[in-house]
Amino acid sequence: MGLDNSPAQLATARALQEEHGLRFPLIHGIAEQLPFRDGSFDVVLSEYGAAIWSDPYRWVPEAARVLRPGGDLVFLGNSTLLMLFVEDDENVPAGRTMLRDYFGMHRFEWPDDDGIEFHLGHGDWIRLLRDNGFEIIDLIELRPSEGAETAYPFVTIEWARRWPAEEIWKARKR
Ligand SMILES: C[S@@+](CC[C@H](N)C(=O)[O-])C[C@H]1O[C@@H](n2cnc3c(N)ncnc32)[C@H](O)[C@@H]1O
Repeated sequence: MGLDNSPAQLATARALQEEHGLRFPLIHGIAEQLPFRDGSFDVVLSEYGAAIWSDPYRWVPEAARVLRPGGDLVFLGNSTLLMLFVEDDENVPAGRTMLRDYFGMHRFEWPDDDGIEFHLGHGDWIRLLRDNGFEIIDLIELRPSEGAETAYPFVTIEWARRWPAEEIWKARKR
């Protein structure tokens, strides 16, 4: 089952299902109020969806609600560390100077764009996950391989080879 709040993204997903011969329900909805019964999933996965564009204090309790005990929550987004270094202008790559505070990080509003993102410090992530009944299984800090390429201007491969630019959290509902 796939869920997105954008009809255009769902249309793309439908076209890709067709192309690759896949069949599963695609639902129009929001991560903060999932249209599913309690305990109906074994896995909840977010790849740059709710993981960064929804307030974690709203979507994590919903993910916990729809998971069965023993079910896994996996989410991928930009790393907490990168958020300290990333420039307001997404076309300027992150440098070596910390540009913003770590303590209190939560809601990010980018001046050149109407997008809002959410990023937490690691201690806040751990407390939020535990408060919602999760045990932390892993925090995988991704490192691109040598010679990798990127289409994103806000962080270079050289930067991401030295410091984690993306991270995957894996947590299990107790
Ligand atoms: C970068 S895309 C990636 C989505 C998915 N991983 C994929 O590969 O198709 C991010 C998606 O998250 C969706 N999204 C953002 N906030 C959301 C929310 N609160 N609830 C549901 N979907 C959301 C957006 O509509 C967008 O389609």
